[in-house]
Amino acid sequence: MKYLYLLGYPLGHSISPAMQNAALRACDIRATRYVKNPMPPEKMREMILALRAPHCIGANVTVPHKQTILSHLDELSELAREIGAVNTIIKRDGKLVGDNTDAYGFLQALRVRRINPAGARVSILGAGGAAAAAAYALAQADAGEIILLNRTLARSVELADRLNKKFPYLGLAINDWDALAQSQLIINATSVGMSPRVDESPAPKHFVFPKHAIVFDLVYNPPATKFLRDAKQNGARVIGGLEMLIYQGARSFELWTGQRAPIRVMRTAATAALNEIMQTSSHKG
Ligand code: ATR
Repeated sequence: MKYLYLLGYPLGHSISPAMQNAALRACDIRATRYVKNPMPPEKMREMILALRAPHCIGANVTVPHKQTILSHLDELSELAREIGAVNTIIKRDGKLVGDNTDAYGFLQALRVRRINPAGARVSILGAGGAAAAAAYALAQADAGEIILLNRTLARSVELADRLNKKFPYLGLAINDWDALAQSQLIINATSVGMSPRVDESPAPKHFVFPKHAIVFDLVYNPPATKFLRDAKQNGARVIGGLEMLIYQGARSFELWTGQRAPIRVMRTAATAALNEIMQTSSHKG
């Protein structure tokens, strides 16, 4: 049996195993399983050993390792190096190769809704790996201006420097919270509002979402975060994180297996797994 790992901490109710195992079955790849492998940050050494074991053929990497794992890998794709974050690891000739499929997943989630960010003023809350991938994707799609908003200023500055190097003509602002209300696209790339802390929002207290904005939360559990509920109440168009999860997963699947990802199967499995989690948590009160 070969294994694909999901590395992160805590992993809670991730729906990636259900989605990826359904894809493996649909493509008749019977000798491979996708399994959760929860690893806290202090276990980086064990994590790398687990990845190097012969039965491991690749992995997904999630919070909080997307950036810290970079320096432990043998090679990085150009994209992962430029974004400064890895969410997918592929084993090639025994080497651990880091790649990033979040940027693709993010853009694809906009594309399927026919949203073109070219020229738009965009605010991104967060400055971790997910925010970096979203910012990179938006810069590449010719966003007009990107405003980076984060609790820890130093991380926004670091991300802005990285973006500036690759996109020197990009309009960038850091921690300009007043710009949030004048944005056409508002993105939550923090982990605030994720289950079980479903009553928290990364937006400032009493923030009034602009009516004509598109508001995108990269969190998929719950599907309607407080951030999105508040935005919707003000008349904004809202997008949850499920579609991005599906498309980043599809691209990862293709990198590991060399086969075309069965998108429909993955969407069905991901939706069913999420519904099941939502039902279980509502029963618990
Ligand atoms: P990922 O790689 O998935 O983006 P991460 O690197 O841990 O995960 O980043 C999480 C993001 O959520 C960060 O921007 C973090 O802000 P800090 O850089 O200040 O840590 C943000 N975040 C997490 N909890 C938060 C909270 N309670 N309030 C505000 N921001 C928070």
